[in-house]
Amino acid sequence: MTGTAQPTFDLISPSSGQVIAQIPDQTVQDAQDAVERSVKAFGSWRTTSVYERSVLLRKFNDLMLRDVGEIARLIASEMGKPVTEAAGEVKYAASFLEWYAEEAKRIYGTVVPSQSVTKQLMVTHEPVGPVYAVTPWNFPAAMATRKVGPALAAGCTIILKAAEQSPLTALKMAELWTEAGGPADTFIVLTTSDPVPTTKVMMDDARIRKITFTGSTEVGRLLAAQAAPTLKRVSLELGGHAPYLIFDDADLDQAVADVIACKFRNAGQTCVCVNRVYVQRGIADEFTRKLSEAAAQLKVGDPLDAATQIGPLVDAQGLAKVKRHVTDALSKGATATTGGEAGEGLYFQPTVLSGVRAEMLIMQEETFGPVAPIIVFDTEEEAVKAANDTEFGLAAYLWTNNLSRAFRVSAALEYGIIGLNDPVPSTAQAPFGGVKQSGYGREGGLWGIQEYLTTKYLSMNVK
Ligand code: SIN
Repeated sequence: MTGTAQPTFDLISPSSGQVIAQIPDQTVQDAQDAVERSVKAFGSWRTTSVYERSVLLRKFNDLMLRDVGEIARLIASEMGKPVTEAAGEVKYAASFLEWYAEEAKRIYGTVVPSQSVTKQLMVTHEPVGPVYAVTPWNFPAAMATRKVGPALAAGCTIILKAAEQSPLTALKMAELWTEAGGPADTFIVLTTSDPVPTTKVMMDDARIRKITFTGSTEVGRLLAAQAAPTLKRVSLELGGHAPYLIFDDADLDQAVADVIACKFRNAGQTCVCVNRVYVQRGIADEFTRKLSEAAAQLKVGDPLDAATQIGPLVDAQGLAKVKRHVTDALSKGATATTGGEAGEGLYFQPTVLSGVRAEMLIMQEETFGPVAPIIVFDTEEEAVKAANDTEFGLAAYLWTNNLSRAFRVSAALEYGIIGLNDPVPSTAQAPFGGVKQSGYGREGGLWGIQEYLTTKYLSMNVK
């Protein structure tokens, strides 16, 4: 953060509609200043030992865990995720710091055999340079640490542009990095009500060597184009439109519980939330009834109440999209077997729609809301074809007890992540990312740190 007499913008809670904080509204000048500081800090941070970086990241992890309750309340207040779920997010966020504290020590090089007995060919990996990260509001903590953890572990400095809807969590995390002993300007948070001009500063500056973004496909394409003139490294984790294929050999009760977990976490505002539930005809009626009963039991309420399972949508635009999808489906013959209507303010009832068909809007776009549309299928081929019939390719799920089918269908699904009898595959040590219009690059695990490293080759002729 820079300056003291800055303009501010109002941060409005989606549950109460009240202004909960004044956030520094940083300008082009602040962005330029952040670049200067980040570039300068990179000069020394890149030369620190991986063990030093590891110790700092481990302390950062410990401080996140110390403050789980406080950070969870910030998340609940600023973007409406129920506080119990938000506490889970904070632990998930910290796990990226823990993982990359370890992974920093495994940035191995290679010695390659040469044709000459006097030559040694040595390959090492170096930090790519100062990084610009743009993160979404739906996981204010975890989408930040999934970028900040590997960047800092690799020896990069990072400027994080927090989402306008969820800056408090990002600011708190920058404080914790300082408390952990993180050197000044290695991790800078930028807050602004208008990200376009500040982002232009980052994208135009050739000293920023990488852009990493989680958000919509539309914005991802713009950033990829803006990164081209300075040839920045780019990783994009973009939209999804996840299918869930429930075969008639599934354990029905478990499949219902899994679809509830996958669909309704964060009120459906997750890139990997199921968006299309395909159910085989023989079990469709029973599945629909059980899913509707379970969805109707979900407790909708104040995100700061520990018992709440479904909070509000993040803003009026998000709510309008959910309403549009549901209205369109109902007008074209779908039935709401539970829910189907908006509540007060930014709330929408947990909803299950049956009788959904491919031509409905909800089957073409990511809803990002608490709505589960059910589509009935007959054959495995038909289900796979429908699941792949989208420009997106982030996550797909299936439920089956047939081992051959499990492998066959997993192989045929054109997605970066497959949850086989598993509704929540995301974890710090695994690769997260998509294919097609869901982006490129991977976050998490040993793949995540590669995105922040370049390869250097040293040819030594020693006689
Ligand atoms: C996302 O919505 O992009 C993140 C979800 C996850 O990490 O599971």
